Amino acid sequence: MADHPHHHGMPKATGFHLKLKEGTQSLHDQAESGNFQVRMVSGDLARLEFGGFLGQMRHIHAVLDPALQQAASGDARVARIFDESHLRLHRIEQDLKDLDHEEVAEPFPATSSFTDYIAERLEQNPTSLIGVLYVKEGATNGNKFIAKKLRETMGLGEDKAMGYLDPHGKDQRRCWNAFKETLNELDLTDAEQEECVAVAQETFKMVMTVSQQMPEVSTA
Ligand code: HEM
Repeated sequence: MADHPHHHGMPKATGFHLKLKEGTQSLHDQAESGNFQVRMVSGDLARLEFGGFLGQMRHIHAVLDPALQQAASGDARVARIFDESHLRLHRIEQDLKDLDHEEVAEPFPATSSFTDYIAERLEQNPTSLIGVLYVKEGATNGNKFIAKKLRETMGLGEDKAMGYLDPHGKDQRRCWNAFKETLNELDLTDAEQEECVAVAQETFKMVMTVSQQMPEVSTA
């Protein structure tokens, strides 16, 4: 992506991180060119539509945040990679307040499938939630850029409504580099890594399906 100044001198992806990156690269390309993502990047997403999107993310994180906490409490590898900065529910709630968008719609079918999937993974194999965390954390790289556009077009204050899209602020680069390093230090078997890659792939698809179900709001 052109607007990205930090590729120079970045160490090449290795290990478990490389598996996740390669396993989801083509899905990332699709996600980036999705209708909703393109409208977000071009910055013409209506405030109502952004609020609607955050509402769906609220349903997802109401399940994902405690699932990650629970997985971390039972598995040292999850505990090692997961930290409080990955919790998004409280940020989304503040963002929705900033937008005066406090009536959250019911979950879309795709949103419910996503939360069902998280609950099922937590039950079957909590370690594999690392795959969901990877996608959610990786997405902050692109989301930061989208946040910059939305700040401009929605004319909100610098500190308003972007807690979900830009959770790490000026620490983005440092957090992402540390996250990747920690991924590679996790004591996971090959089979466990493969399972995380499969979960990451599934997560990409579910995020895209939720975006596809976002109704377009007319600004006229
Ligand atoms: C317009 C939409 C998007 C743009 C412009 C974008 C942009 C980017 C960029 C520039 C990076 C590289 C960060 C770096 O390592 O320097 C990145 C990484 C990543 N993004 Fe996106 N992204 C978009 C959408 C998404 C979506 C919808 C998801 C998933 C839900 C996602 C998940 C990820 C992941 C997991 C990574 C990490 C890849 C790795 O392991 O290196 N992105 N994105």
